Amino acid sequence: VLDGLFPDGVVTAWGDPLEPAKLLFPEEEALVANAVPKRRREFAKGRECARAALASLGLGDAVLLAGESREPLWPSDVVGSITHTLGLCAVAVAPSERYRGLGIDAEPAEPLAADVTRRVCRDDEVASLGELRSLERAIVPRLLFCAKEAVYKCVFPITRRFLGFEDVSVTLDEGMFHASLRVASPPLDGHHRVHGRWRRAGVHLVATAWIGRNQGALP
Ligand SMILES: CC(C)(COP(=O)(O)OP(=O)(O)OC[C@H]1O[C@@H](n2cnc3c(N)ncnc32)[C@H](O)[C@@H]1OP(=O)(O)O)[C@@H](O)C(=O)NCCC(=O)NCCS
Repeated sequence: VLDGLFPDGVVTAWGDPLEPAKLLFPEEEALVANAVPKRRREFAKGRECARAALASLGLGDAVLLAGESREPLWPSDVVGSITHTLGLCAVAVAPSERYRGLGIDAEPAEPLAADVTRRVCRDDEVASLGELRSLERAIVPRLLFCAKEAVYKCVFPITRRFLGFEDVSVTLDEGMFHASLRVASPPLDGHHRVHGRWRRAGVHLVATAWIGRNQGALP
């Protein structure tokens, strides 16, 4: 499902949130104590997948709490991202000496409602919606949504700033995309480029995003 969706040095893991997950640590359990069962299941599967991925970095027993904006709090020297949707939970982690940020998002491969499409797509993006050969046009706005969510998760832990859909401009290509930030988001600048890849995996769309350590802004 996730093979090849990130460059070298990124470790991924995935699972099905409908299947039983390993027990959470008590501090993690407390974060979802009052949540509905669906939310508890997806949270637990996310933490399980995260520890499976972190095991490759020697950190398979890390406790993963959440920050004020719900972002996962990774061990120091690690960046990562978590997503869950119906039937799929996916996680990516990497050493922070190689990556400044990672993002991953999974969505059902279904059309978006028209009003959501209008909110998600910038005018420059609408013009290019029909250009992918490998994805039906009706689903492309959902892919843009998925890509922007992945970018947001990648960028937020660096900038700690909210981004609206219009603040990120995405250029889609077959299996990949480029995103640039339309607003200055210190310590990233206003044209900062985020790389991404995407795939349709059965009933899901998965998009990934990353900012490498030595990656600069667009000219
Ligand atoms: C954070 C957000 C992107 C999550 O996406 P989602 O489709 O609702 O849900 P997903 O299952 O894909 O992702 C949820 C996971 O994202 C992670 N996450 C949540 N907030 C985050 C943040 N601020 N930064 C990074 N990761 C975050 C968490 O790991 C969460 O799972 P967990 O609570 O079980 O740990 C979304 O809810 C949100 O807040 N969006 C507003 C910002 C936005 O979309 N702007 C436009 C795009 S540029």
